[in-house]
Amino acid sequence: MTVFGTNIVKEFERLPDHKVFGQVTDVVGMLIEASGVQGSLSVGDHCDILARNDRRVCCEVIGFSNNRALMMPFGSVDGVGMGCRVEISASDPVIYPDVSWLGRVINAFGEPVDGKGPLLSGKIGYPIHNAPPLAHQRQRVGAKIDLGVRAMNAFLTCCKGQRMGIFAGSGIGKSTLLSMMARHTTAEVSVVGMIGERSREAREFIEDHLGPEGMAHSVVVVATSDESPLLRRQAAYVTMAVAEYFRDRNNDVLCLMDSITRFAMAQREISLSMGEPLASKGYTPTVFAELPRLLERAGPGAEGQGTITGLFTVLVEGDDHNEPVVDAVRGILDGHVVLDRDIAERGRFPPINVLRSLSRTMPGCNSPEENAVVNRARQLIAVYEDMAELIRLGAYRRGSDPQVDEALHYYPALEKFLAQDIADHTDLATCYQMLYKILDMDGAPASAEQPSPSAAQAPEAGSAPAAPPAATPPAATPPPPVPAGQAPAPDKSEPPKAETAEDIDDLGGSVPAEEFHDLGESVPLPVPSFQNLPEPPGPEAEPKRPDEPPADTGADAGDSAEPPTSPTPETPTGPDSDPNLV
Ligand SMILES: Nc1ncnc2c1ncn2[C@@H]1O[C@H](COP(=O)(O)OP(=O)(O)OP(=O)(O)O)[C@@H](O)[C@H]1O
Ligand SMILES: [Mg+2]
Repeated sequence: MTVFGTNIVKEFERLPDHKVFGQVTDVVGMLIEASGVQGSLSVGDHCDILARNDRRVCCEVIGFSNNRALMMPFGSVDGVGMGCRVEISASDPVIYPDVSWLGRVINAFGEPVDGKGPLLSGKIGYPIHNAPPLAHQRQRVGAKIDLGVRAMNAFLTCCKGQRMGIFAGSGIGKSTLLSMMARHTTAEVSVVGMIGERSREAREFIEDHLGPEGMAHSVVVVATSDESPLLRRQAAYVTMAVAEYFRDRNNDVLCLMDSITRFAMAQREISLSMGEPLASKGYTPTVFAELPRLLERAGPGAEGQGTITGLFTVLVEGDDHNEPVVDAVRGILDGHVVLDRDIAERGRFPPINVLRSLSRTMPGCNSPEENAVVNRARQLIAVYEDMAELIRLGAYRRGSDPQVDEALHYYPALEKFLAQDIADHTDLATCYQMLYKILDMDGAPASAEQPSPSAAQAPEAGSAPAAPPAATPPAATPPPPVPAGQAPAPDKSEPPKAETAEDIDDLGGSVPAEEFHDLGESVPLPVPSFQNLPEPPGPEAEPKRPDEPPADTGADAGDSAEPPTSPTPETPTGPDSDPNLV
């Protein structure tokens, strides 16, 4: 029998052969108890209560107690009283998505809320509480997906069918990053679930961030924060059901959900109202059972189906990354993108902390050259971040540590690469080309999908960049010592560098790599003339710059029997007179 035939039979089987009625026996807050129907119901079924003001109040069965059904309304309980009639409306509720839903905004029942008229119903019903494909039938994650955001494409490359979480405290930029990816992605279909967010944001997201172009290949499901917890939770299920419909049509779907925390909070409200005990920090056990059931529905489909790539925002309450929901979601997903409040406060958006973020499919989906350039960039950022405080205070003295000098040289360009305007879009291949240029590395033409076999020629991660032929070191007149916090004079032996690149997106072949090394406003130190540095020394040799000042400046004080001499009396020194500090 065909799939279509099987579905019709299933639909017929769902039709009840007789109607069962019950009545309301208790109402406490949002919890309604009913008797007379409990034998015909199961958790998740829907009922209608005929309220005294002639309203039909749709409810969901959330549990059973003392031989009564416990139900919660999707709307207000106004008019519901003792003895009100309870009718079973749907067991195992379904929606009927259709390809014509693209470009539309729907609610948690799959009804249109955009004022553009009725929606066409598809032929096949999709249960909103669907199960994911069986693990052994699922395909593996596919090729890379272009998300249009440089930091994501280059440092946290995502594959089709991968599920990633965007973790951040409140107001750091989760929703904005999500909207950038929704707008710029090359995925065939986007399904966006706005779960429990502000109603203001829904319209902004649809009109400003997605725009008509993004909307054309998107379906948006909305349940705002003022709606009942049942609706907020169901909106998440409906988002998945719509994504599953397109996946079954062999589309590669990008499923974006903002936010999973609101889903967990909605489930917590539901659980608490029926008296479930607490498990961890105010969350009930059902929350932790529902999270994987929802999130596992995203991912690759079975053979012959498309994929659902999932991007879910997670609110990190109180910036505590070990908070239970954060921890649970991080464990379920295939990667985490951490947004950092410090970075946002510095004004770099999107404030992705690439060192704390991880894409679990990443090394495997990249070519060796791509892995090498990303590893190198990560190492440079890590070295810089380690020293950031000292550098900002002006307490690090250029020439003290070649690795730090190198990081100082490249960091501004990397920062600029990571910053991106909301409207900017950079494709996958261009992202890698930009990184190669920034780091002066010879990358193979970026192969977004096929790893290149020329790995052996790729520079080792963490090795020094391909330096230009070393200039002859100046023989005499070492530069005078530089007081801490003050910019040292430029190295006269080097020709001045072009540092005027206005637009980092301009990747014309003639743009020299140096043009990416624009310091920007936020880093007060100048670019050191790094190209004149010798190769990093072996363990027996101390780092020595060709333009190194005399020993009494403190540059090689570690070797000297004399304590390091500060160039100025008021220069801050470390507690242990670290030779790297002046
Ligand atoms: N890419 C960006 N460029 C410029 N400003 C940004 C960017 N991303 C975020 N912001 C700023 O940060 C603010 C908060 O962003 P956003 O609403 O995306 O945060 P959020 O983490 O989703 O917040 P919440 O936790 O409240 O949902 C924005 O109003 C905007 O001022
Ligand atoms: Mg938000």
